[in-house]
Amino acid sequence: MNFDRVAKIYTILEKVVFGNQLQWARTCQLDMIKDRQRILLIGEGRGRLFTELIKVNTGAAITLVDSSEMMLTEIKNSMPSNNLANHKLINLSFEDFKPIYRFDAVCTCFFWDCFEMKKISGGLRKMHQMLVSDAVWLNSDFAINPQTSGFYTFLHKIFIRFLYHFFKVSCEIEANKLHDITLLGEESGFRLQSRRWHPSLPISSEYFVSK
Ligand SMILES: C[S@@+](CC[C@H](N)C(=O)[O-])C[C@H]1O[C@@H](n2cnc3c(N)ncnc32)[C@H](O)[C@@H]1O
Repeated sequence: MNFDRVAKIYTILEKVVFGNQLQWARTCQLDMIKDRQRILLIGEGRGRLFTELIKVNTGAAITLVDSSEMMLTEIKNSMPSNNLANHKLINLSFEDFKPIYRFDAVCTCFFWDCFEMKKISGGLRKMHQMLVSDAVWLNSDFAINPQTSGFYTFLHKIFIRFLYHFFKVSCEIEANKLHDITLLGEESGFRLQSRRWHPSLPISSEYFVSK
């Protein structure tokens, strides 16, 4: 998987296709981590959550881990260096990351939907081990809302199939389809606290605590 190729155009592409709707999912439950002190952002990409997080939580030490050097370079180039002073940007695959302390919050945005189920389960267990008990996990991903009517579910599935095709060709992502992140989260030591659905798009935001 390699997001370097799309790093420069990623935000523009997102805004053209989704407007500000992915950002809604990233930030709609941000309040849940505004008092947390050690926060891990995995696969943070261009840093759109990070930018909002440092506005609401000025005291936290934030660690960003992303396997794309270009994505991290884009973050560094788009922010004043004093905004980055207390934070760490680590260019590593999440699987190879060995933290020196445990985090009290972790965020993953449009990250787990890039992986196959086995990798998600293993990754979630690893993520759980990096956290203190009662840590918060904020997640946003593409997902099909079971409350959506049949016709819109059909359209959403076609749209998601198109997205997978695009990211497979451009970034060689591993996954071919969505998996049930709440179920996999519950199986990996997390308890779902709330889930918010976008009113018209197949996008959701979940807030979990670690058991
Ligand atoms: C679909 S993008 C999502 C970016 C961002 N979180 C967002 O909300 O737009 C996936 C991100 O995960 C990163 N990534 C992919 N595999 C990774 C891995 N194994 N470890 C860490 N980061 C990874 C990619 O480089 C990319 O920045």
